[in-house]
Amino acid sequence: MSGLAGKIALITGAGSGIGEAIARRLATDGATVAALDLLPDRAAAVADAIIAKGGAAFPLVADVAEEAPMRAAFAELANRAGRLDIVIANAGINGHWAPIDELTPEQWDVTTRTNLRGTYLTMHLAVPMLKAAGGGAVVIVASINGARVATTAGATAYSAAKAGQVAIARQLALELGRHGIRVNAVLPGMTETNIRENTWKHNAEAASWPVHFPDGDIPLTAGRAANPGDIAAAIAMLAGDDARHVTGAELTVDGGQSLLR
Ligand code: NAI
Repeated sequence: MSGLAGKIALITGAGSGIGEAIARRLATDGATVAALDLLPDRAAAVADAIIAKGGAAFPLVADVAEEAPMRAAFAELANRAGRLDIVIANAGINGHWAPIDELTPEQWDVTTRTNLRGTYLTMHLAVPMLKAAGGGAVVIVASINGARVATTAGATAYSAAKAGQVAIARQLALELGRHGIRVNAVLPGMTETNIRENTWKHNAEAASWPVHFPDGDIPLTAGRAANPGDIAAAIAMLAGDDARHVTGAELTVDGGQSLLR
């Protein structure tokens, strides 16, 4: 069986894309999965699919950026599972992409709220349970936009939030090391998911720089985007005991895409 038998793993944004892939992967590896999503049907479908394959899972419903629903979700998690060992802070949206002089304060807030405030709240509420468990592993799903990539036109709010997530991982790796809690960031490149549903472009092309990428913008795959399982594999490695000495790391998983940008 697996290295994760008996572990309890919370995954935010588990209803689709990368979150769904990591939920399925950690369940296959033996963890009991708490699949949290904003959309109840998606959370339930992923939990049901895991159970149908013989795994253990239950759904949780909350907006990661809203304190009261998140407190309720963590109370339910504590009731149902009794402990917490692994946290994948994955829920995110592309949000609003626009030139900076057109990006409204409301659009800025929508974009940073889910990605950054949501990550803060997830950590704020999870850490007491991880401390009580005597340690744990956290993986924050950021983006190559949170590091050196600046060629996503109009994505200032998204990039700022993703860079903020990387800073949270670094800061908390140090703060929580004494409690045996590891905190790492995964920075995916382009991945085939449903994130376009949560992408709103407003004249974003006006903010673009006319860069021309070579054939095969993703060198490793001749341009093909990752599938969510590619990202989940790296996250699973960081969540498991093989990474027991890894904390504060930023792991880029992009097939070399960011090297061209
Ligand atoms: P997705 O749209 O396929 O899945 C995101 C899930 O999160 C959905 O089920 C959605 O309902 C849920 N969600 C959205 N807002 C939420 C909220 N406020 N509270 C709770 N759940 C919420 O997107 P994908 O691509 O799987 O994104 C996952 C993470 O990966 C995000 O943080 C994203 O920024 C990051 N990422 C994605 C890349 C891509 O190319 N798809 C590239 C780099 C990073």
